[in-house]
Amino acid sequence: MKLKDEFIKFFVSKGHKQIPSAPIVPENDNTVLFNTAGMQPLIPYLKGQKHPLGNRLTDYQKCLRTDDLEEVGDATHHTFFEMLGNWSLGDYFKKESIAWSFEFLTEVLNIPVERLAVSVFAGNEIIGKDEESAEIWKSLGIPDARIAYLGEEDNWWPNMKLLGPCGTDTEIFYWRSDEKAPVEYDPNDDRWVEIWNNVFMEYNHTEEGFTPLAHKNVDTGMGVERVTAILEGVNDNYLSSLFKNYIKLIEDYAGKSYNDSEYTASMRIIVDHIRAAVIIVGENSGVKPSNTDQGYIVRRLIRRAIRHENKLGIDINSDFLRTLIDSIIDDYREYYPELNENRFKIVETIESEKTKFNRTLEKGLKEFNKICTSYESKIPGEVAFHLYDTYGFPIELTTELALERGLSVDEEGFNQKFKAHQELSRAGAEAKFKSGLAGTGEVETRYHTATHLLNAALKIVLNDCNIHQMGSNITTERMRFDFNFDRKLTDDEKQKLEDLINEWIEADYTVTKEEMDKEKAVESGAEAMFIDKYPDVVTVYQIGDVSREICTGPHVKHTGELHHFKIKKEEASGAGVRRIKAILN
Ligand code: ALA
Repeated sequence: MKLKDEFIKFFVSKGHKQIPSAPIVPENDNTVLFNTAGMQPLIPYLKGQKHPLGNRLTDYQKCLRTDDLEEVGDATHHTFFEMLGNWSLGDYFKKESIAWSFEFLTEVLNIPVERLAVSVFAGNEIIGKDEESAEIWKSLGIPDARIAYLGEEDNWWPNMKLLGPCGTDTEIFYWRSDEKAPVEYDPNDDRWVEIWNNVFMEYNHTEEGFTPLAHKNVDTGMGVERVTAILEGVNDNYLSSLFKNYIKLIEDYAGKSYNDSEYTASMRIIVDHIRAAVIIVGENSGVKPSNTDQGYIVRRLIRRAIRHENKLGIDINSDFLRTLIDSIIDDYREYYPELNENRFKIVETIESEKTKFNRTLEKGLKEFNKICTSYESKIPGEVAFHLYDTYGFPIELTTELALERGLSVDEEGFNQKFKAHQELSRAGAEAKFKSGLAGTGEVETRYHTATHLLNAALKIVLNDCNIHQMGSNITTERMRFDFNFDRKLTDDEKQKLEDLINEWIEADYTVTKEEMDKEKAVESGAEAMFIDKYPDVVTVYQIGDVSREICTGPHVKHTGELHHFKIKKEEASGAGVRRIKAILN
């Protein structure tokens, strides 16, 4: 029987109701592109809302983490993964949670106690040392030497900075090595692999601080891919039963061996990325490859996989991709029936993205090889932009190709080019508006949010609600902001602007994003720059209660990320238009 089935059966036997996996693209939460943990769809219930199925729940949840998409290629990283979880919504707490985890591991999965170790919270100014969990572990047979007391970096979930439900946790580790497990647990020895995390969610972190939730919850998470590999005794997740048929398929079509280190990473990338693409495209929500948000992730996944197919010499006109997709769907349809229902759409979408990219891939690679000979260390941003614009190479792909040759890419330069191109298109066509600012760097994103704050602060400090943004330009070094006003600002006014904006930055306001009809957005008081250029549905960014603007983004999540705002220059820029240059530091 599979791990997923065993897990659900066990927790159902402990009075839990199984809930279906929520879609991987969150339905009512636009703060993240994809669910990254089993608890994400349950946030309203962790915060106190009554769940229709009761207060003990269990599931397997489709998750996707894109932060380390480029890391995929080693033995343990994945983009898509499944997380097993059991929840108590104000019902049981530490005692049952720990005892059941122990029982499942030792009696259902038959893991010997000698291979287990745990960590518990060491205590901080909010909550004391978690002696209670340690005592429960000891009573079950985990010796003192196998219990580590660690601080908030390790045993607080998700982390002290993020807002929302949170709490201390106890993590369970498995000794993954042929050597005998040492008596003492050493958190720095990476042969101890985390297999399960039990979070005791009792706080809600808001702007005001940490307040107790309506009730104490338990939230647990166990990664299917990792634990399956462990149970099967393999150190490479891709050699577990979950992936090995796919690897075999690639070996057959490529006529190459997975053991040949020249090809191992490419095979893992293809398997991981196509599996993730199948899951995302296969949802009823209908994500298609595009240049924004979830669509851009799908595009990157498929294009990167195709590039590695090319590297392995797989015939692009063969039925390889179709066969791989079919076999993934067949393996997962029992758990995610929508995959089978959407089989045609999945194949069509991935194949058509392949065809599109394949038209330019060969030429683009040739061009890239030529380009490489001209640069010794860094490929200029405009060259990367050319590869993007002409051959459809996502910037991440160019960076990866460059890395393989020991080169780097001027990504900031690329972003500037990208933005300039976007601004040109934006002035021209509504259609292009939708293509967003994917690829905008972190620094530019901070400046972008600062322009919204400056726009709001000018109205207040100059006491004129008719002041509006007339233009803006952002580089990684500074921001430039033009607005309608007919005289020079005084030193005092400039100081007041800085003070007000820095006050807002210090207040660490949350930046939220909402999609709505254009008319509704304007009615709701959102500032709009090019109203007749916008599509019918627009995105509105709200910063605390100080700013509300229609904008494509991207923006920071909290104003605190801007650190400090300083005006460098204030000057005229045409009749009735002033220009401010400012920096963040
Ligand atoms: N939500 C916890 C995690 O993802 C269980 O680790």
